[in-house]
Amino acid sequence: MEPRKPLTLHRLRAMHAAGEKIAMLTCYDACFARVLDDAGVDVLLVGDSLGMVLQGQPSTVPVTLDEMAYHVQCVARGNRSAWVIGDLPFGSYHASLAQAVDSAARLMQAGAHMVKLEGGGWTAPIVAALVERGIPVCAHLGLTPQSVHALGGYRVQGRDDEGADTLRRHAAELGAAGAAMLVLELVPSALAAELATTLPMPVIGIGAGVGVAGQVLVLHDMLGLTPGRPPRFVRNFQQEGGAVDAAIRRYVAAVKDGSFPDESLHGY
Ligand code: KIV
Repeated sequence: MEPRKPLTLHRLRAMHAAGEKIAMLTCYDACFARVLDDAGVDVLLVGDSLGMVLQGQPSTVPVTLDEMAYHVQCVARGNRSAWVIGDLPFGSYHASLAQAVDSAARLMQAGAHMVKLEGGGWTAPIVAALVERGIPVCAHLGLTPQSVHALGGYRVQGRDDEGADTLRRHAAELGAAGAAMLVLELVPSALAAELATTLPMPVIGIGAGVGVAGQVLVLHDMLGLTPGRPPRFVRNFQQEGGAVDAAIRRYVAAVKDGSFPDESLHGY
């Protein structure tokens, strides 16, 4: 089979403009990077969820920039053509613009093509500073796990009018600051679909319904490896059996044809 052309921001924007759904998964090591890339995953997110998934931490808060840089390096070594996003961990962009620029530079030098950060309007000047310096940024709104203690748990965001308006305002501010992608986590489907059609950048949902530009899941969740009951928005793509790469291909196909997520099973 022809090796696929490396995904670029330009190509991701073209996919978005053409209405082709973007398939994203978290990835933390070189071995899975190769499997996911070969199975056609468009975007590998080196998420700070690795704190919970790999390290057994109770939240993503303890994850450090050194740890993120290490895992970005591992993924970059295994990957050939997918777009790689590195998560800026808690505390690595909160103190100042200078700190945010230094932290983002670490992840870009480790092999990321884009960095992701969590939070609303207060992050807009950070997004603008990074974009000005040639660092593409993915914003992250809705349930932002680094703020789990302030949010009072892992709950759906933007359910009431005030919460929905705040989300709309923050999303517009981040778009104006130059964010090239937005992850929306645990947001009612109707609000997510509205934002996906009004914002200029591709909106990638996790627990945000099907009316967005693409989907992301935590790799270990969609392979059924995470202990305990999975969140409602997760589908176990390994349940049908077969090899891991077959499960990943089923995920990519279901995202692309819009059969995942199924609102009746995975929606809010
Ligand atoms: O860290 C992560 O894996 C994430 C996804 C859940 C979107 O931010």
